[in-house]
Amino acid sequence: MTYQEAYQKLEKYGQLHVLKYYDELDEAQKAGLLQQIDETDFSILRFLDHRDDALTEGRISPIGAMELDEIERRKEEFTAIGLDAIRQGKAAAVLLAGGMGTRLGSDDPKCMYDIGLTHPVYIMQRLVENLMDVVRAAGVYVPFFIMTSDKNHDKTVAFMEKMDYFGYDRSKVWFFKQEMAPAADRDGKVYMEAKDRISTSPNGNGGWFLSMKRSGLLDKVHELGIEWLNTFAVDNVLQRIVDPVFVGATIASGCACGAKTVRKAAPDERVGVMCLMDGRPSIIEYYEMTPELMNTKNDKGDPAYNFGVIMNYLFREKDLERIVDEVLPVHVVEKKIACLDEDGNPVSPQEPNGYKFEQLVLDMVRELDTCLPVEVDRTKEFAPIKNRTGVDSVESARELCKLNGIEL
Ligand code: UTP
Repeated sequence: MTYQEAYQKLEKYGQLHVLKYYDELDEAQKAGLLQQIDETDFSILRFLDHRDDALTEGRISPIGAMELDEIERRKEEFTAIGLDAIRQGKAAAVLLAGGMGTRLGSDDPKCMYDIGLTHPVYIMQRLVENLMDVVRAAGVYVPFFIMTSDKNHDKTVAFMEKMDYFGYDRSKVWFFKQEMAPAADRDGKVYMEAKDRISTSPNGNGGWFLSMKRSGLLDKVHELGIEWLNTFAVDNVLQRIVDPVFVGATIASGCACGAKTVRKAAPDERVGVMCLMDGRPSIIEYYEMTPELMNTKNDKGDPAYNFGVIMNYLFREKDLERIVDEVLPVHVVEKKIACLDEDGNPVSPQEPNGYKFEQLVLDMVRELDTCLPVEVDRTKEFAPIKNRTGVDSVESARELCKLNGIEL
């Protein structure tokens, strides 16, 4: 893209400040910036005008979940179906690790965070150890895909190499990168992270399947005959991955996807909950929950919207191919964004200073016709690490690990 073309593009979107330092740049930096301007989708900034609109407008009603007592009763049946699929190579793990983990406040990728007390126990190590339980039960390695972003790819790959994949079969591990989106200030102007670079951040975890396709790894999925993809977040150190019971229950249900859920700890817990929206399985984000929905009871007298998602979903791959071109909603999220100050010096803000634009994996569920919510015991399977201390933190996750006999 020439300077003139870049100027016109930026003018159209009210972003001419991107060229503020252009004259100070050397030739390589100039070329880099022009290329980034060419590749950036500034039209995403239009979502700022709609950030207070409800993203969900349909009629909401409760959905049942497969609860723990039923799972316990049918455990053998589900385990057999799940293990059979895993042994035939039909189920794979997809780790969504492209996020920046800003709340945790470490410069390294979240998977490198050490939660150990007497010896190192990295978040990634916990995930691999959990997956190894399934490898041992099934007697085969599970294909393991890892999504990273421009911001953390090199460090994540180097860490896995250095740690020898924590004993996992490295020939069964593939990495792919997600897309990036610009980040903007409160007036809708994109931030600059350097004089020659627009500030960008990963575009949310919802684009994972499209990114997998663009990376060419979908060919690998087809070649290996994988039919089910278990996507999961990096930060839940207790989660079961490609859990045979979950795989078996979802396959037996005939649904296009399964969602692991936990009973909410309190009506206002900050987790998205399963519901039906205009009759289709869906998820309401915690910030979309009205007091009326929170207090609605079912016929047993329990809260009707009580099953919170833990970002562990099993998707039937061929159904994802059907919806891959559907446009997912864009969520505007307030975050801390590293930027330049008035004088062009880099700053790392302590408080949120602008917005990122994210698509969310939970919105993929809305696009599918059927979903089986599966209850799991939160004390055994839900130890998310979002913060250093307090709720969903390193501290709370350590307590839960200890409760489950994991030595730290
Ligand atoms: P979070 O919503 O906790 O976001 O991600 P985050 O970026 O990691 O953390 P904060 O908000 O900045 O503190 C939930 C999961 O989705 C992945 C994360 O890596 C985590 O596994 N994720 C998030 C992506 O893969 N890509 C993204 O763009 C965002």
